[in-house]
Amino acid sequence: MRFVSPNFSDLAEPNIEIKTFPDGDSYVRVPSIKKEESVLFHRLYPEQNTAILQAVLMLETLKRAGASTTLVSPYLPYSRQDKVFREGEAMSAEIICKLLLEAGARKLVTIDCHFLKKEGTFTYGGLEIENFSANKLLIEHARKKMGEIEIITPDIGAKYLVEEFGGKGMEKKRGGYQKGEEAYRKIEFVERKFEVKGKNILILDDMISTGGTMIKAVENVKKGGAERVFCAATHGLFLKNSLKKLKEICDGVFVTDSIPSPVSEVSIIPLLKDYL
Ligand code: R5P
Repeated sequence: MRFVSPNFSDLAEPNIEIKTFPDGDSYVRVPSIKKEESVLFHRLYPEQNTAILQAVLMLETLKRAGASTTLVSPYLPYSRQDKVFREGEAMSAEIICKLLLEAGARKLVTIDCHFLKKEGTFTYGGLEIENFSANKLLIEHARKKMGEIEIITPDIGAKYLVEEFGGKGMEKKRGGYQKGEEAYRKIEFVERKFEVKGKNILILDDMISTGGTMIKAVENVKKGGAERVFCAATHGLFLKNSLKKLKEICDGVFVTDSIPSPVSEVSIIPLLKDYL
């Protein structure tokens, strides 16, 4: 059985009903469940808190009706909070995985999950996760656009995306949490120990969120004399007007459609074809 949430309707025909009660509670209906292997396609972003809860409601409903469900969610929110930096912090990534497991996910299929940092099958928080990478699709797309390019990452954590293509990683340092309501650690610097002068550069990352990382990386390689600079990532959240800012300072920006955006130029369908 294949169940498709309305928030996946750009990639497959939806057959689940999701609505909102007048008070804001989520209404979910998964019709025609059979006691068999099922695949549930549901994005967990944007509006991640609601989307996660909707996933829990659907998974529990499938479990209660006797189905065994693989959840396909291309971007896993909370995946960057996989360590405790300050005493008392929630290990959100693990908690979300445990929650999905408890709700009935037999397996999670996702793409460039931040804390896994490579393709493959893993167990995290007890949940089996099959993690694909969009790196090859993004690099192929970049080569069609730009021809010969040097591929780099803005930090060491994303280096796995470029290693097999001879790519190098810059180093990034974040500061502590800033004062105020927003939990944000500002980027202090992005450092580079290799030459970029006269080269066409693709900066590739797993995600562009506030754009702080990419903006610093673009500034760095432009200062180093790079010829043309493109930015790409698997997941484009593009918060704080960062898409506009990036477009102003580089030669092009593109991402996959794991999260739909105006620059989702690369389809994730080839990665999910076995499930779709
Ligand atoms: C962090 O380690 C990730 O790989 C990304 O570099 C980061 O999450 C991007 O966030 P932002 O766009 O807010 O700098």
